[in-house]
Amino acid sequence: MSDRREPIRDIAHFGYAELLTPKPEATESYFTDLLGMEIVRTEGDSIFLRGWGDYAVWTLRVTASDSPGIGRVGWRAYSEDALHRRVAAIEEAGLGIGWDNDNPDRGPTYRFQDPDGHRMEIYYEENKYRAPEGMKSALRNQPMRYSGRGAGVRRSDHVALLAKDVPANRAFAEETLGLQLREQIRFENGEVEIGSWLSSTAMHHEIAYVRDNAGMNGRLHHFSLWVDNREDVLRTADIFRENGIFIEAGPSKHNNSQAFYLYSYEPGGNRVEVYTSGFMVFAPDFEPVIWNEDNRDGGVYWGAKLPESFSTYATPPAPDQAMASGPVVDPH
Ligand SMILES: [Fe+2]
Repeated sequence: MSDRREPIRDIAHFGYAELLTPKPEATESYFTDLLGMEIVRTEGDSIFLRGWGDYAVWTLRVTASDSPGIGRVGWRAYSEDALHRRVAAIEEAGLGIGWDNDNPDRGPTYRFQDPDGHRMEIYYEENKYRAPEGMKSALRNQPMRYSGRGAGVRRSDHVALLAKDVPANRAFAEETLGLQLREQIRFENGEVEIGSWLSSTAMHHEIAYVRDNAGMNGRLHHFSLWVDNREDVLRTADIFRENGIFIEAGPSKHNNSQAFYLYSYEPGGNRVEVYTSGFMVFAPDFEPVIWNEDNRDGGVYWGAKLPESFSTYATPPAPDQAMASGPVVDPH
């Protein structure tokens, strides 16, 4: 018999991410022309995007800023009651910021931060997406017609955040938000937690916390978009090469999560993953899988070893890495 706690089932799923970019026009072109996302709204310095399979109105917000990085991460609660239960838990943890009634296409949104200082939001109500004329799918059960443009990403999938103190942030995600722990990298006989992957759904992970080797706070490792098959990942690599986008790693397969991945830097400098094929978790008594120095193999199941930049570069870049963002080339 296990001693697992009764699960908290208040968060329905990862809702959206906001990416900050110092090159908003080139970043917009990357997500629309090359990855095939649609802009549904423009407001101030922000554009709001969706993949053809996203049920939400938008799942990616891109905002002009002096430097790249993550603006915020949104979580959708299961219900109004679930929202208020999580807000109470967040306030008890001392990480609440306050209510915001100005979140486009979402209802009352509670803002908070994780222990590392990443800004997050939780909400329940949201507008239903209604495809405009000319954008409707021939499929009654698909929110928008398949764009067939660029990579044709289906939906926003997850974020990987760096943290100075991985255990504190993983514990917050588990105990305060109620996410389920899936896999971990633990070194030195399990005593040093290097990374943790968590989810609120059957998807393997919706968020990862990985140790920030620069000792900074609030940084983004990568934002990830889902495609339906490996061929789409391979095609995306061709599209990136034809358009001067820096490919940092892949196409290859991770051992933890089993994801088939391709990592690039969008023109603003943020690392973006296009991926497919991670395994799903259905068992309510799933035991988190732990990887150590002997079996970690650098995170790669097969394919090229991940470059050093994968463990040193993040956004915003560390002061001594300002020029380490790779040969970022404007796609136009
Ligand atoms: Fe990822």
